[in-house]
Amino acid sequence: MILKPEILKQQLDGKFIGHQLYYYEEIGSTNDEAFRLGLTGSPEGTALIANSQHAGKGRMLRVWHSPAGSNIYTSIILRPQITPASTPQISILAGVAVAEVLESYCPDRIKLKWPNDVLIDGKKVCGILSQVKTTASEVDFIVLGIGINVNISYSQFPKEICNLATSLAIETGREISRQELIISLYENLTKWYKQLLKYGFCRIKDKWLSISPMIGQTIQVTFQEEAVSGKAIGLGEDGSLILLAVGNKELKVSAGDATIVNR
Ligand code: BTN
Repeated sequence: MILKPEILKQQLDGKFIGHQLYYYEEIGSTNDEAFRLGLTGSPEGTALIANSQHAGKGRMLRVWHSPAGSNIYTSIILRPQITPASTPQISILAGVAVAEVLESYCPDRIKLKWPNDVLIDGKKVCGILSQVKTTASEVDFIVLGIGINVNISYSQFPKEICNLATSLAIETGREISRQELIISLYENLTKWYKQLLKYGFCRIKDKWLSISPMIGQTIQVTFQEEAVSGKAIGLGEDGSLILLAVGNKELKVSAGDATIVNR
């Protein structure tokens, strides 16, 4: 199904996210372009959508496979009045919002893997990459980048990820309207973002904990060449994963790739 930017623009007119919408048939990375727009003062809620990306960026300097015509690649500019240390809360929030929307397509099969991978039966369907611009002790803006595998088929995934990734179409056996999904995604992101600003991180944290199978499990987190492991016992106020390591030592991990290890 083709994305119709004119219809999207009409549907998002006056909405918090997407009132200003930039659509690209092809772009390097919507995150890079959103960052550039953020620097020029684009308002909160500005959203970018691309039909394909030739330099899609993933976490930890990875590439995000972004072929044309099948998936959602979007970046949103937010300007929350929170401290720079709290900005990981926004990525956690985004994971919760995406998971809640995808739940209606694949009931009881959606899980969150720290920090914010959205999985269907253990395979990744969505990745989130946020990039922050701070000035002194304040947040200037955050670019929230979201990639959702919507209609991509199994054979279109690069070999190295085909056993790890999936799409909504693969899991439901039908083609999904990207247009409808974008509208529900922006609405749900708005709902959780407003909750964060009004009530703080608590509700988001509780919701994350209810969707993630990680708490109570032994987790290994690798970051660059380093690995730490321990039992996951909670989520910090800064979005970090709290591990209980050997000797009952509490470790707060703020970046890396997490895996549940069976001991
Ligand atoms: C991850 O590694 O899990 C994060 C992937 C984030 C991909 C999205 S697609 C839209 C936006 N633009 C990018 O270049 N990356 C993010």
